[in-house]
Amino acid sequence: MAQIIDGKLVSRQVRERVAKETEELKNKGITPGLAVIIVGEDPASQVYVRNKEKACEEVGFYSEKFALPESTTQEELNTLVKELNERPEINGILCQLPLPKHLDDKEVINLIDPIKDVDAFHPVNVGAIMIGDYSFLPCTPAGVMELIHSTGVEISGKKAVVMGRSNIVGKPMAMLLLHENATVEITHSRTADLKEITKTADILVAAIGKAKFVTADMVKDGAVVIDVGMDRDENGKLCGDVDFENVKDKCSYITPVPGGVGPMTISMLMQNTLTAAKIQNNIED
Ligand code: GUN
Repeated sequence: MAQIIDGKLVSRQVRERVAKETEELKNKGITPGLAVIIVGEDPASQVYVRNKEKACEEVGFYSEKFALPESTTQEELNTLVKELNERPEINGILCQLPLPKHLDDKEVINLIDPIKDVDAFHPVNVGAIMIGDYSFLPCTPAGVMELIHSTGVEISGKKAVVMGRSNIVGKPMAMLLLHENATVEITHSRTADLKEITKTADILVAAIGKAKFVTADMVKDGAVVIDVGMDRDENGKLCGDVDFENVKDKCSYITPVPGGVGPMTISMLMQNTLTAAKIQNNIED
């Protein structure tokens, strides 16, 4: 039986670290500030945004929520982002995705000042990740790295396989593993002989969005298995991309769903907002 990586515990540790540093910043008269924009009524997005606000409160940040109606125009949204770019007490700007269909998320992301882009979605920040010279890490891959670090397993020299090639998870995930000297392979929906590749992974990160897709025969003995999936099984119950019950006896460490990667992402957002506040106030790490 693998050891289960406790995402809630690691997430709490990150938040405690952020809260402590925030207190020190506040003693210098600086309070990190996050603006969260949400457009429309998407229920999942409403929950995410509420959790982000709660997390800000928990670590001692200033936060401001902009809940805009579904009918918001691109111009109105763009104007808000430009205003937030100019406000010194706002260190981080996050526009919750997905946006309603009539709005262009790329246009909004490109307008956010890269120094306030705590999602690390702006092309400048994506490029910075590519060359390994970054201030912000995208929250989900950064959370995965924290979870792998928490196991104490050495990454350098290991074979890592990332399943999924999205801009938000798969691609930056591969870069972060590469920066820590893993030998990285990315697989996707058109990959031939998928199982032959996943079976070579000492570290396997599944980010494909297919419920219980990864089975024991796809996993190397003793692998570290990280499940980024947030899917529903045949009974409508929350599950991951990995068939947990089937795989858990084959690997050394595994993340559960829920309680694995999920709790990490908001904690990493808090980390990025703290970093943003430090950079904007010329405070060295
Ligand atoms: N929607 C789902 N995940 C995310 C995220 O990490 N950032 C933003 N901005 N929107 C999301």
